[in-house]
Amino acid sequence: MELKIIPSDLPKPKPHDEASLGFGDIFSDHMFIMFYEEGKGWYDACIRPYDKVELDPAAMVLHYAQAIFEGLKAYKRKDGGINLFRPWDNLKRFNRSARRMCMPEIDEGFVLHCMKQLIIMDKDWVPKNEGTSLYIRPTMFATEPHLGVRPSKTYIFFIITGPVGAYYREGFNPVKIYVEDYYVRSAPGGTGDVKTGGNYAASLFSSEAAKAKGFTQVLWLDAVEHRYIEEVGTMNVLFLIDDELVTPPLTGSILPGITRDSVMQIARDWGMKVVERRISIDEVIEAAQDGRLKEAFGTGTATVISPIGQITYKDKSYVIADGRMGELSKRLYDEIVGIQYGYKQDPYGWIERVC
Ligand code: COI
Repeated sequence: MELKIIPSDLPKPKPHDEASLGFGDIFSDHMFIMFYEEGKGWYDACIRPYDKVELDPAAMVLHYAQAIFEGLKAYKRKDGGINLFRPWDNLKRFNRSARRMCMPEIDEGFVLHCMKQLIIMDKDWVPKNEGTSLYIRPTMFATEPHLGVRPSKTYIFFIITGPVGAYYREGFNPVKIYVEDYYVRSAPGGTGDVKTGGNYAASLFSSEAAKAKGFTQVLWLDAVEHRYIEEVGTMNVLFLIDDELVTPPLTGSILPGITRDSVMQIARDWGMKVVERRISIDEVIEAAQDGRLKEAFGTGTATVISPIGQITYKDKSYVIADGRMGELSKRLYDEIVGIQYGYKQDPYGWIERVC
């Protein structure tokens, strides 16, 4: 498919203070967009000025929530070049999400090519400071005006980008987590391992209640027994118990995180024992009480590595690693960020140069 390019003749002002960048409010000058129709496939691929997308009020996404997305980042190298981190894995996961949601797949190679062109056009939007990056949000949703419940026959796929800093207002400092023991995010056989908006909508009620009580995020438990750790919703979670790094396995109800996978590979290469197994909240609390829970942290593209300084379960709070960033979290953060920004060796082949 041919990629049409329409440059913006009205560039927007860029943020001048990188240190105060938050997450998700600022968008670059251009976007990529393409359209799909059953029987015709994808068509009209175009990079054009960032603008609104027109939707029919009967568009199926608004009623039955066929919508998927990805999140990845572009990092400015010291030599002025730009790195992407494991973009192939994001696009593979996007197509996996598409299949589960009965949506059309994209051509991963073509979309990566268009993503790179988009980043090159908006390269001056990629911030320079460590801890900042250009967040990239590929998204697909159902557009057919139709109210019967079935998969849509038409879709829009777009990529928008924008400069970001830390995801949480704590910056990269430890966060306080509330363990939700009633509401659930996803159930076995559901869509918990798919990057679809509905999972996030389902999480809002508890997250807002937790935030009102001063917590940063909710830690979800399994839907059957309300005992086993799942994820934090914007992050996967890992626990350092004694000398073992433990994380819940990918059994279909949590997101298969790319940062999670990277952290596990790095830790294994450092000779650490990394175990994917079911871990109950009782085990975590017991380890915290016995002093065996040395660290806990979340991983995600938006959050990178986010140390957990406190867990609250059934009205009791447990401080982890003295409420500070633990040694392992810091070492993993430095390693992964070093690879992403290109000043550390990338023995894994995770980096894809944009320019
Ligand atoms: C990401 O880490 O990029 C995500 O997609 C999580 C998010 C919903 C902010």
